[in-house]
Amino acid sequence: MKVDVLLGLQWGDEGKGKVVDVLTPRYDVVARFQGGPNAGHTLEFEGKKYVLRSIPSGIFQDGQVNIIGNGVVLDPVLFREEAEALEQSGVDIKKILKISKKAHLIMPTHRLLDAANEKRKGASKIGTTGKGIGPTYTDKVSRNGLRVGDIFHDFKAKYEAAKAKHIDMLTMLGGDTDVAELEAKWMDAIEYLKTYEIIDSEHYINKLLSNGKKVLCEGAQGTMLDVDFGSYPFVTSSNTICAGACTGLGVAPNRIGEVYGIFKAYCTRVGSGPFPTELFDETGKKIRDIGHEYGAVTGRERRCGWVDLVALRYSIMLNGVTQLIMMKSDVLDTFATIKACVAYKVNGEETRDFPYSIEDNIEPVYKELPGWNTDMTSIKSEDEFPEAFKTYVAFLENELQVPITILSVGPDREQTIVRKSFAK
Ligand code: GDP
Ligand code: IMO
Ligand code: MG
Repeated sequence: MKVDVLLGLQWGDEGKGKVVDVLTPRYDVVARFQGGPNAGHTLEFEGKKYVLRSIPSGIFQDGQVNIIGNGVVLDPVLFREEAEALEQSGVDIKKILKISKKAHLIMPTHRLLDAANEKRKGASKIGTTGKGIGPTYTDKVSRNGLRVGDIFHDFKAKYEAAKAKHIDMLTMLGGDTDVAELEAKWMDAIEYLKTYEIIDSEHYINKLLSNGKKVLCEGAQGTMLDVDFGSYPFVTSSNTICAGACTGLGVAPNRIGEVYGIFKAYCTRVGSGPFPTELFDETGKKIRDIGHEYGAVTGRERRCGWVDLVALRYSIMLNGVTQLIMMKSDVLDTFATIKACVAYKVNGEETRDFPYSIEDNIEPVYKELPGWNTDMTSIKSEDEFPEAFKTYVAFLENELQVPITILSVGPDREQTIVRKSFAK
């Protein structure tokens, strides 16, 4: 059996959580493969709204196993908050969630280091989520990290050694070193973590695949935030691309089946960094207002702009996307004209290839299409799409050379149109 991967093609917040929830009934297992509580994946159904950070978005469907993979970084305190809230809403989480022994732990000092690093950068700060993501992945790669499997063996000594190093670094950076209160809560949360099933997830997943089970891998962030291929240094600290599912779960590349690439009908970004199609005018404000474009975790205003097909083509190439999923089309329901960036002018020269840097001298070349001026939020089938919207979708498919097989027309589970062309 193969694993299918669902991941973001833009700068995150494409709507991954919603679609994972919708697709989960077709799978036996849902597994997160990278990122941590920097993610905020929103799900809406039966009039309720939930935001998941570290826990996979398959958690609300019946019976499926959910896995936090080795590529994820886990903050025990935030995990506990999230898990207890789910328990309160009736999810039998301890029964269906498994955690990899090899996932790395976010320590209180990682969060302090995140803040100190950002302060040090001043005006050129990344605008991180402040969750300690960068410092935790740094420790992983520099071979100083603490893993979930460590909590059972000589943990205190390992923790103290890592903390001592962090305190030295914080002192050098002029950061906050007052960790006592955070630490007490964190140690309690470590005890809570011990009540979960902590497993060798790479063995577990590969056995499931051998037994014919279906696995959906859930990405966090988006391709343009990938540490290698995103708008570096304004990126996150993990590989958000499809290859991250291989390293973040222990799944071999020849096991990858469908790759679902998800994007918004426009584009957003939170935090600092270049964004070629960003709109600073009334249109940008209108997209933000109608699309409620505010961070699910930080509440920060998301920057808004037109869809960028140069960046999307690049993302499709890097991920081997087999099917596209377009979200939030309904947000554009009242726009007379829709624009899509089909090429960049770099220093006056037109290119369709994503360049090394998008920091300077990029001028988007737009194609304008007529809007559909129709409320699409209660549409139930692709046959009901207005003609102008059908034209827009066909235009995108032609530009991107990948079929759009799922379309979302509202935040609710039910507002999802799976086209006849969808394949699993
Ligand atoms: P994720 O991080 O990729 O899971 O995305 P987020 O949850 O951070 O952001 C997506 C936001 O858009 C959430 O508030 C969703 O409830 C909402 N959303 C998802 N799909 C749609 C849609 O098709 N239309 C509208 N209007 N909202 C949507
Ligand atoms: P989901 O999974 C949008 C952004 C931050 C910042 C940069 C680095 O909900 O799509 P980090 O805290 O990771 O070191 O911050 O990445 N960022 C996200 N933006 N959606 C996310 O996750 C993000 N996770 C991180 O805003 O610019
Ligand atoms: Mg999000």
